[in-house]
Amino acid sequence: MDSVAAADVVGRLKAVVGPKGVVEGTDAAPYFREQRGLYRGAALAVLRPASTDEAARLVAICAAARLPIYPQGGNTGLSGGAVAAKNGVLINLGRMNRIRALDALNFTVTAEAGCVLAELQRAAEAADRLFPLSLGAEGSCQIGGNLSTNAGGVNVLRYGNARELALGLEVVLPDGQVWNGLRGLRKNNTGYDLKQLFIGAEGTLGIITAATLKLFPRPREVETALLGLRRIDDVMELFARARAASGDQLTGFELIPRIGIDNVLRHGEGFREPLATKHPWYALIEISTSRGDAQLRQALEGLLAAAMDADLVQDGTIAESEAQRRELWRIRAALAEQQEKLGGSIKHDVSVPVSKVAEFIVRASAAVSERLPGIRPYPFGHVGDGNIHFNLMQPSGADKAVYLKRWAEFNRIVHDIVVSLGGSISAEHGIGLLRRDELAHYAAPLELETMRKVKAALDPLGIMNPGKVI
Ligand code: FAD
Ligand code: MLT
Ligand code: ZN
Repeated sequence: MDSVAAADVVGRLKAVVGPKGVVEGTDAAPYFREQRGLYRGAALAVLRPASTDEAARLVAICAAARLPIYPQGGNTGLSGGAVAAKNGVLINLGRMNRIRALDALNFTVTAEAGCVLAELQRAAEAADRLFPLSLGAEGSCQIGGNLSTNAGGVNVLRYGNARELALGLEVVLPDGQVWNGLRGLRKNNTGYDLKQLFIGAEGTLGIITAATLKLFPRPREVETALLGLRRIDDVMELFARARAASGDQLTGFELIPRIGIDNVLRHGEGFREPLATKHPWYALIEISTSRGDAQLRQALEGLLAAAMDADLVQDGTIAESEAQRRELWRIRAALAEQQEKLGGSIKHDVSVPVSKVAEFIVRASAAVSERLPGIRPYPFGHVGDGNIHFNLMQPSGADKAVYLKRWAEFNRIVHDIVVSLGGSISAEHGIGLLRRDELAHYAAPLELETMRKVKAALDPLGIMNPGKVI
């Protein structure tokens, strides 16, 4: 499209959203910034529709003009999925942030895509319910982005990831039609489950404008412990015991490496050594229940005493108050926030069967250290889900830019091991731009071909978030 025609289309798009829905000049900069600084966005316009009708009209105009559309939520994604390009328009859902309905008896909430995750959690709590999706970026990520990336986080063990929390969606399709699938049903076997196509599609099949989501009883008892362990096999053995002993009550089981604690103590603010002695590995465990008389504290103490007797756990602390509990989780959150303080960091967001987590960490650490002596593996995260953020910090004193040029080389070493263990190269952060070539490399040809057929069927013009995922 020539620049005169593009200016005409952009003018019509701006008229749909009005001045409040157009972001220009320096105000647009945050929409082009990418979390990890790996990409830089651009766009013909940044548009913020206030309603599904406005979003649909924008998409219809873009489809008629064959103009690429780049959907964006809170822009906290870690795979470059929300990066726009200068040949298209960025549609940010942030103004569509209303909770449309909360049905406490049905244990559901219907919210617009731009609703910030923490706001959604608060709305559920005000109705004495729990919306369990929880992740470090919850103060700014949006439910539309969470669904589009099928986000995971720290409560997947008990409640599942975003996909498992969605009952219905409203979606603007790539031709501008609106599919209203906002059903609050636990049972519905009427043909293909269309909503599943859009969940985890990272904006490549349509724009999610609203969702009906599951709520749960609010927890009345929560117990949290941080434990020090000697070996990664001990961590996973402890996980098996904790799961068997507490079943559904185990809501979180997170891995923290000593390198992460050292880093947080050195660079974070207001942190203290969490246990009396230092350990190679730490497990952050949380159990919770909506019953008020479950005596979880005794259960956790019993579990830990037995694990110490068996020489699995070396030391530990159980949070005595909500403030202490938050402090333990603050260490966990800071692991991700402070990583870059160690210099260049090559990322992996992988999953393997839980029974293979220890083997993966041992094998992958050895393989990368053999390739580059001094490299510092920083494996942390949701090991109860088999999900490890296996990030690789540059050797101390190395040249950051030179190190980061080896990103693809280390990805291949790590991903080959992941795949050999029956794992996935993207557990929860998605494919976006960052892992598109890796997906093309590892996915079975038939899988890729089927994905391309789905894309072509729903978005025959190829205008919806082009260049992402496949
Ligand atoms: P964006 O970044 O804006 O977009 C992500 C993708 O979804 C893009 O492809 C975009 O095009 C698409 N998209 C966004 N909104 C829509 C929509 N309405 N319709 C269609 N497509 C859309 N992720 C986890 O899974 N688990 C974690 O524990 C976790 N922890 C994090 C901690 C930190 C500190 C940070 C910065 C990020 C973390 N993330 C985590 C990653 C990120 O927060 C999630 O991927 C989140 O779901 C992205 O939501 P968002 O609204 O920011 O989406
Ligand atoms: C987390 O679990 O903290 C995020 O998903 C991780 C990250 O920043 O890699
Ligand atoms: Zn994570």
